[in-house]
Amino acid sequence: MEGTTTMNRRFACTTGDLDPGESMTVPGEVKIALHRTEDGEFFATADTCSHEEWSLGEDSDLEDDELICPLHMARFNLRTGEPTCFPATVALKTYAVEVEGEDVYVVA
Ligand code: FES
Repeated sequence: MEGTTTMNRRFACTTGDLDPGESMTVPGEVKIALHRTEDGEFFATADTCSHEEWSLGEDSDLEDDELICPLHMARFNLRTGEPTCFPATVALKTYAVEVEGEDVYVVA
């Protein structure tokens, strides 16, 4: 049906694969960055920074519920993807994360 998008759930990693405060790239048709806060919560955003080409899964920093791109220090709200600091002005797409036992899935 036109206008309908299909959501695909994709296995990302196990909970032991990603330490608190770390991020990783989940490969696939849509590259997603999976983040785990110091509190142990998982969030998923677009892998590429909305400012320029930079993989947030490969290299970014987490501070509370903010994601920091180290290339030009833009900040994003992990929950909404909204930029909270220049130079980024465009929100990152966010994705649902489902944790089942030790398995972590992203829905894109
Ligand atoms: S590429 Fe991320 S802030 Fe510039």
